[in-house]
Amino acid sequence: MQRIALLCGMLALLALPLKAQKWEHLADTPQMGWSTWNKFQGNISEDIIKGIADAMVESGLRDAGYTYINIDDCWHGQRDENGFIQADPAKFPNGMKAVADYLHAKGLKLGIYSDAGTGTCAGMPGSLGHEYQDAIQYARWGVDYLKYDWCNTTNINPQGAYQLISDSLRAAGRPIFLSMCEWGNSHPWRWAREVGHSWRTTPDIWCDFDSLRIFPGYTQFGVMQCIQLNDTLRQYAGKGYWNDPDMLEVGNGMTENEDRAHFTMWCMMASPLILGNDLRSMSDATRNIIMNKEMIAIDQDTLGVQGLHFCDHDGLQFWFKPLAGGDWAFTILNPTRKDISYSLNWQDFNLTDSEVSRLSTTFNTRQYKVFNLWTHKMEGKTSLKNKVERKLTVKARDVISYRLIAQ
Ligand code: GLA
Repeated sequence: MQRIALLCGMLALLALPLKAQKWEHLADTPQMGWSTWNKFQGNISEDIIKGIADAMVESGLRDAGYTYINIDDCWHGQRDENGFIQADPAKFPNGMKAVADYLHAKGLKLGIYSDAGTGTCAGMPGSLGHEYQDAIQYARWGVDYLKYDWCNTTNINPQGAYQLISDSLRAAGRPIFLSMCEWGNSHPWRWAREVGHSWRTTPDIWCDFDSLRIFPGYTQFGVMQCIQLNDTLRQYAGKGYWNDPDMLEVGNGMTENEDRAHFTMWCMMASPLILGNDLRSMSDATRNIIMNKEMIAIDQDTLGVQGLHFCDHDGLQFWFKPLAGGDWAFTILNPTRKDISYSLNWQDFNLTDSEVSRLSTTFNTRQYKVFNLWTHKMEGKTSLKNKVERKLTVKARDVISYRLIAQ
């Protein structure tokens, strides 16, 4: 009798569901796409989404790797009588499935947005208590990506809430990327590797290079403030789970050099590249920045290592990112308002990335070809000798960025 009871107990234990794993291989490199939020906030519609999708394809951005079109906050209508969420019929008269079909036919993917709490940050219905039901609805519509926010979550535990939506997406049966957006408050980099594909490390970005924008109750970060926070977390990112210092503001009003520095640093940090400008009407300067394929390749490099802020000197920051096959990306960032001249001696940069990749630059024994990632020109080779090899001027709020190609 006792034996039977024990056997029954063991069988019952075996029947308990194991903790589900997130969908794998959706984030082998950082996600690339576009989001409504930075440019449009809540003023969105099916027409805007379709127009952006057309521009994404015609401009060549899709073929450069930008495939997600993410509808952020304010797409929501009401829940139906069974509790299933519907799109706002005024903004999306043909429903969300029609949007997904339109995007999929163009080789693009649909992202959507919800919140772990009772309401989203803009006061739309949240997913609390409807997690699995929402996951089913997204799967039915053909959604490929979910950004899951953290407003209105009094008394909710982030680890439990994000695990719940991750499990729900898994159970609903359609591979959906999970972009976690709780701004880094609960240090998700310490616990969310198996839960989500990326996690925000910062408060919201705003379109400014180097200042805070303070509101009652919250603060927005400029580009430099986002970099500073994200910089401390490189050991937590890797293939399948990325630090997210928020979406791009390129083309939304900063100067061309600030935009170039912003984009370069997101690539150096292996950050998600989610565009935030109006793709239907961008300047050539904006297009040249976001379409720089050699720079995108730094972000998307298959080694998957977030760049290292190696040192500061004379007001400049020196960043290195190890790449697959022995190459390195090397960026000098000038965050100041003045142009700065610098005499470069490669021997000052013999470093080992002991924290993450364990790779070394070894400029003393190895020569690299120097490819300028913004002029797209080769600039000779690194020197084995201990000497000033080139004099550079790094413009104010700009970068000089090279791919160092291993010989
Ligand atoms: C939060 C997020 C933003 C955006 C808004 C939408 O502030 O951090 O990225 O999604 O909500 O309301």
